[in-house]
Amino acid sequence: MLNIVKKHLKEVKSFYSENDIEVEEFRIKYNGKKGVLNKLFKSFRDVPEKEKKEFGKVLNELKDEINNKIINLQKKNKPIKKDLSVNGDLSKPGFPYKLGSLHPLTIVENKILDIFSKIGFIISEGPEIEDDWHNFTALNIPEFHPARDMQDTFFIQTNPDVLLRTHTSSVQVRYMQQNSPPLRTISPGRVYRNEAISARAHCLFHQVEGLYIDEKVSFADLKQTLIYFTESLFGKSKIRLRPSYFPFTEPSAEVDIYWGLDTEIDHKITKGTGWLEIMGCGMVDPNVLKNCNIDSEKFSGYAFGMGIERIAMLLYQIDDIRTFYENDIRFLDQFKSI
Ligand code: PHE
Repeated sequence: MLNIVKKHLKEVKSFYSENDIEVEEFRIKYNGKKGVLNKLFKSFRDVPEKEKKEFGKVLNELKDEINNKIINLQKKNKPIKKDLSVNGDLSKPGFPYKLGSLHPLTIVENKILDIFSKIGFIISEGPEIEDDWHNFTALNIPEFHPARDMQDTFFIQTNPDVLLRTHTSSVQVRYMQQNSPPLRTISPGRVYRNEAISARAHCLFHQVEGLYIDEKVSFADLKQTLIYFTESLFGKSKIRLRPSYFPFTEPSAEVDIYWGLDTEIDHKITKGTGWLEIMGCGMVDPNVLKNCNIDSEKFSGYAFGMGIERIAMLLYQIDDIRTFYENDIRFLDQFKSI
């Protein structure tokens, strides 16, 4: 008899489980009404007199061991709650997911698109891999024209007719081919130029170019649109137009805005002049209209184009263009609230 109790004692001591159901089975087996412990206590009277003392001692030891074991294992397993719904345990505390943010270039692009959408410009997009005609020829830049050198182009080596677009003017060529005037379109997108990478220049950047074609469009319309734009984006409406050259516009101009000279930074970025160049523009050259089958006697238009990086650098006072493409979380995090 004594041996049986000792065998149970050994078994109880070595029992371990983290499973609720197994612990409950263990409890019923030993502590249940018809369990091992009750049976052994009942058999106490059959134990010979001289063994009773020893038997009682070991039996009590077994009882304590069983109770402690059950309490300990139940305590240990308690936190394991069952999932109460298909969504998991809804009583669990929330987990702080890190929120992302829009890329600063996307933020600025959206701002520019919003401003022009408000005055009726339709957003148009086109391929980044272009052919010579859409990127150059249609825009009044024939083969061997020196203006091609202005835009250091990435060509596909085996086929000089395939290139990475150097500006989104190519999208506007496509738009003119597919739609008839009056036209108002704004074309955002990534462009590529084979330039040495530095704090000021990169071999890829982003542009927004605008095109407006209708009867009797004049330079005054262009100027008024530019004033509306700079006022909306920068809160500054003092601009000046410097004569310039683009093969696809005639006359052409660079647009400067008066940034001011209030702070030391203003002095630095405007090189002490207070003026900042923000984009190119001009009246669409009649040759471009002809190339796109638009009656250049009846219609005229203006076009403009700007680099999104440059605008973003001015708006957020960023002094190195490369930070836009490095995707350093510490840089991107700063644009969360914008
Ligand atoms: N396409 C020109 C560029 O990439 C910008 C521009 C657009 C200038 C339209 C004038 C008119 O530099």
